[in-house]
Amino acid sequence: MNPRPLPEGPVPLLLVGLHGHGRSHLRALLPMAERGLVRLVGVCDPRPPGPDDDLEGHGPLPYFDDLDRALQRTGAHITLLVTPIHTHLPLARTVLEHGSHLLLEKPTTATLAELDELTNAVRDSGLACQVGFQSLGSSAIEHIRKLLAHKTIGALRGIGGTGTWKRTLAYYERAPWAGRRRLAGRDVVDGALTNPFAHMVATALAIADGGRHAPHRIEPELFHAHPIEADDTSCLRLHTHQGVPVCSAVTLCAPRSLPPTLHLHCEHARITFDYTLDRVTVHRPGQAPHTTTHQRTHLLDDLIAHLRHGRPLLVPPAATLGFTHVLEAVRTAPDPKPIPAEHQDVWREAGTTHRTVHGIVPLIRRSAEQMATFTELGAPWATPTRPLEARP
Ligand SMILES: NC(=O)c1ccc[n+]([C@@H]2O[C@H](COP(=O)([O-])OP(=O)(O)OC[C@H]3O[C@@H](n4cnc5c(N)ncnc54)[C@H](O)[C@@H]3O)[C@@H](O)[C@H]2O)c1
Repeated sequence: MNPRPLPEGPVPLLLVGLHGHGRSHLRALLPMAERGLVRLVGVCDPRPPGPDDDLEGHGPLPYFDDLDRALQRTGAHITLLVTPIHTHLPLARTVLEHGSHLLLEKPTTATLAELDELTNAVRDSGLACQVGFQSLGSSAIEHIRKLLAHKTIGALRGIGGTGTWKRTLAYYERAPWAGRRRLAGRDVVDGALTNPFAHMVATALAIADGGRHAPHRIEPELFHAHPIEADDTSCLRLHTHQGVPVCSAVTLCAPRSLPPTLHLHCEHARITFDYTLDRVTVHRPGQAPHTTTHQRTHLLDDLIAHLRHGRPLLVPPAATLGFTHVLEAVRTAPDPKPIPAEHQDVWREAGTTHRTVHGIVPLIRRSAEQMATFTELGAPWATPTRPLEARP
């Protein structure tokens, strides 16, 4: 089917996946609808909105429980898919078959083979697909690339990542796929590094090598404190195709949530990038740290600009290849190991179970500083998920 050209006025847009992160999209769409950029023509979800649901200020909208029908009836030109990971590829195919462009939430797909299928389906359709790694819309990334080209900063020697967030058992109880590696025979891969901290991995790769290459020697160490199948406390080291090490250490069992940070180790300086805040700080020896905050391009604005003016997309599926190799390594790694109860604090608060792992915040900090994994740092609960490869 030939893609329809975008209409002159507001772009008709369909939101699929209403009750989770779809709510944040509804809130973000409101000013865009008020500006006349888009027109929300319907929402689609197996579970209908409640009778008093004003859809975050959009008011009553046509509701569909079936995507085929929603696309037929609304004639949406752009479809925003905010559904569980294992539904991304099948729903994306349906959207493309109806001739609609796509903004697809991250992670792109649940396997590397599925990324290939999606890339081919998008190419064959002649339609556009933007993947929802919103941190890749930050102009901080270009700023960092310019800094790295500067001789007072020097060559990039490695990137550490620290992510310490607090997610209670309620987070995992909100949906059947939450905290699962597989569900009903399908890969889900809802682990800490592949979902909540996916932006950390994708942003590190975007800085290190553009994110479009397969990394080498991916070493995942996956653990869980919550009684879940997937990992909630993990470390993963890889080397980019140019040989730069990237070591991300994260937990969803921190005492409190802090902004996640990328730590760039350079020849003559250190750069920290709080990627959720678009905030970059340069630390030069003997000088006061220098912080700058940067603009972010919204991925839907970018998709519409691409369709109207031919500007290259910020995050086409190909830009997520490096990240999806990491997801594949996590998917095919042995199952995460439980962190024994004696290394945790567990308490009930506000009707749900909270957990922290003893010493996890300093451990994660040391991992980023030393580019070392949990087992190398001697965490008492950490034994390798897979035998560590000999290091050169
Ligand atoms: N970019 C980000 O920062 C960010 C943040 C949170 C979640 N996400 C991504 O958004 C997606 C959804 O995550 P979530 O946490 O909102 O999940 P969720 O399970 O909380 O909500 C998913 C919604 O999709 C609906 N749904 C399920 N199957 C469907 C189908 N076949 N057709 C239509 N609707 C369907 C569910 O009923 C539910 O309303 C995931 O890919 C997740 O990784 C991205």
